[in-house]
Amino acid sequence: MIRFKKRYWLLLTFTLLACVIACGKSTVDNSTTGENSDLIVVGFSQPGAESAWRVALTDSVKEAFSEEKGYKLIYKDGQSKQDNQIRDIRTFIQQGVDYIILSPIVETGWDTVLMEAKQAEIPVIICDRNVVVSNESLYTAFVGSDFVSEGETAISYLEKKYEQADAEEQEPVNIIHIQGTIGSSPQIGRSTALEKAAEDHENWNIIAQDCGEFTKAKAKEIMVNALQEIDSKSIDVIYCENDEEAFGAMAALNEANIPYGDGHKITVISFDGSKSALELCLNGQINLVVECNPLQGPYLYNIIEMLEEGMRVPKITYIDEKYFVKETLSEDTIKSRKY
Ligand code: AHR
Repeated sequence: MIRFKKRYWLLLTFTLLACVIACGKSTVDNSTTGENSDLIVVGFSQPGAESAWRVALTDSVKEAFSEEKGYKLIYKDGQSKQDNQIRDIRTFIQQGVDYIILSPIVETGWDTVLMEAKQAEIPVIICDRNVVVSNESLYTAFVGSDFVSEGETAISYLEKKYEQADAEEQEPVNIIHIQGTIGSSPQIGRSTALEKAAEDHENWNIIAQDCGEFTKAKAKEIMVNALQEIDSKSIDVIYCENDEEAFGAMAALNEANIPYGDGHKITVISFDGSKSALELCLNGQINLVVECNPLQGPYLYNIIEMLEEGMRVPKITYIDEKYFVKETLSEDTIKSRKY
């Protein structure tokens, strides 16, 4: 009788211990892979790999959540489709990850899946682009860019460049606007700034506007088409919502032998600040590059470490960003650039 009781208590203690360990950590099954099950598991959903910028974001997050630091990162590429991202988040929930990082392709349409994550008690950190949801408690924190401020930086530059206060009749400023993925935060912030400025300045005209999906190929196509319909001599500004689009627009201008950039009529504006774009800015081919910083891994790491410590985290963290023009750029700045 006594022997039975001892065994019984031993079994009970063992079962309770196993439960405590299982509750504290992710239920992701590592048993078949032989991986370390003490790692904190983070599911990372990216919208795609449309730009060098996004590849830099992926690398930054992978570097921040390494096994050496006690993390296991599960990375999913949504192949430019929101449905895929929603499916990936559901998979993370089923896997019982400890945290989810979501870089949302567009701002809306996330309520249901974020509610599912909340019900599963998995904190969600939104990164890079933002979401618009019915209840902000559906996510724990946002880490990313202030896209409205990025757009306003570009507008301040254009306002200074095209200021014609003394002129009796203002010369028109004709703008070709190549937008990013419609409904995404960077597109909304950068487009809103330009559209508002065009309303505020009577002589600013958006003479062409189309969506380049943040890609070089689409932007080139848009520019080739625009040049068939518009006299290139009437173009003043090409406002590209990221570096890839600027590369595409410039490729079309090069093929048509149309000069642009420093010392020419056409001003080229870009966002991101990749090494290649900064080289072109230093060469005078891109007039202004507004930085959008993809090195967000360390910020996300800090947030999750704070949550692990049971600390409160800021709801919004904006990444530091600046802008570049030829005059303030140097080869050293470009060399030291990580992306
Ligand atoms: O969300 C950030 C934007 O997305 C970057 O400007 C762009 O390059 C990327 O594709």
